Amino acid sequence: MSEIRPGADVVIKGGRVLDAGGERPADVVVSNGRIAAVGADLDAEIVLDAGGCLVTPGLVDLHTHLREPGREEAETVESGARAAALGGYTAVLAMPNTTPTMDSAAVVREVLELGRSSVCDVHASGAITVDRAGEQLAPMAEMAALGVRLFTDDGTGVQDDRLMRRALEYAAGLGVTLAQHCEVSALSAGTCMHEGEWSARLGLPGQPAEAEELMVARDIALARLTGARMHFLHLSTAGSVALVAAAKASGLAVTAEAAPHHFTLTDACCAGYDATFKVHPPLRPDVDVDAVAAGLADGTIDAIATDHAPHPLEEKERPFDQAPPGMLGLEYALALALTRLVDGQRADVDPDRPDGGGVAGAAGPYRGQRLSDADVIARLSWQPAAIAGMEDHGGPIEQGRAANLCVVDTAHRWTIDGSGGASRSRNVPYVGLNVRGRVRHTVCRGEPVVVDGEVQR
Ligand code: DOR
Repeated sequence: MSEIRPGADVVIKGGRVLDAGGERPADVVVSNGRIAAVGADLDAEIVLDAGGCLVTPGLVDLHTHLREPGREEAETVESGARAAALGGYTAVLAMPNTTPTMDSAAVVREVLELGRSSVCDVHASGAITVDRAGEQLAPMAEMAALGVRLFTDDGTGVQDDRLMRRALEYAAGLGVTLAQHCEVSALSAGTCMHEGEWSARLGLPGQPAEAEELMVARDIALARLTGARMHFLHLSTAGSVALVAAAKASGLAVTAEAAPHHFTLTDACCAGYDATFKVHPPLRPDVDVDAVAAGLADGTIDAIATDHAPHPLEEKERPFDQAPPGMLGLEYALALALTRLVDGQRADVDPDRPDGGGVAGAAGPYRGQRLSDADVIARLSWQPAAIAGMEDHGGPIEQGRAANLCVVDTAHRWTIDGSGGASRSRNVPYVGLNVRGRVRHTVCRGEPVVVDGEVQR
């Protein structure tokens, strides 16, 4: 590979280009931040080898906790963006549960400003209510004026039915989308995992699947009432998937996402009281894990979103019921999706490793409807880009478009380690899983930010 010179023209050579229009062999030339040509036998000063790889639009994460401002010991915009680029992302949507909360133009502007020098595009979401306290609507219009297209109180759901109705009416007027963390706090307060066989065995307080499903049902009803656009964050139960499928079948324009841990890990992972496996919504039993996978396969769930939630080691080492919820995801989402959703593989056993590798409690083989590699890229790239209204991301890969691209070696097999990668945190629940698919290069705004698996700055 030739030496990277900022601003030089780049050719991505020898790969199979894949976008919403399909797959074909082609080279891609990038110049001045844009795609200059797509075709056979192209050349440029810098050559990125894409032999054996898919060349796709950059991935788009609808759900990233970057922690800045306020929790820089866990992550910064810069470190989170580096993790994102390594995972193939060219755009992330920063969640608003920062300190202070992203509930005003001032804080949103600060995050966008921090993102300008980072290695992937950083978009901001805004809070629905002031300080995410669920009492008073945040000034959504002033945040929308800065380009915020998605509003959420993520980390918590808006509990008050009337306030949620008003928020949806307001959002409809502004042409923005509300995204809900579905969790009825009356049923989830004081809990730390899913309520079921494992919570009973472990003696830990659990929340029932209904804590999520009741809010999904309410918000479907309110979306119908108000005509507003509604997006469901990190769906984790079979009942939620069924509710969204029925809403879509009735013609309602709702969208939904699922997180990699919810199609990879089960609540049995909590057996060792290791808070690395604590997350909200919680890990669920096999039947829910497979329903999430099936929802991604049949299109009920539109997007895979990481819910990348960094936390310092000392906080994750607290007792299970006291530790903060959340796990890393940006560098693992693509490989986890290819491994479990396409290959259907039990991700926790490697026949070639004497110790077997793996994570106790990882989901078993997936026997439901499979996705193709292309389906996985759709759910990681152009479908989330459409939900967030990110026009420069998600393709198509054609001349004149912004050069936000990802090159994936789909055959590369690797074992996830606990280093945390580029993140400042190390709360990785997948240590030892053997997965397929690795990002070789990422090109963001025309610049090769990841080359041969190494972030360039
Ligand atoms: O597990 C979670 N962690 N779920 C959330 O909704 C919030 C997130 C966080 O910010 O740590």
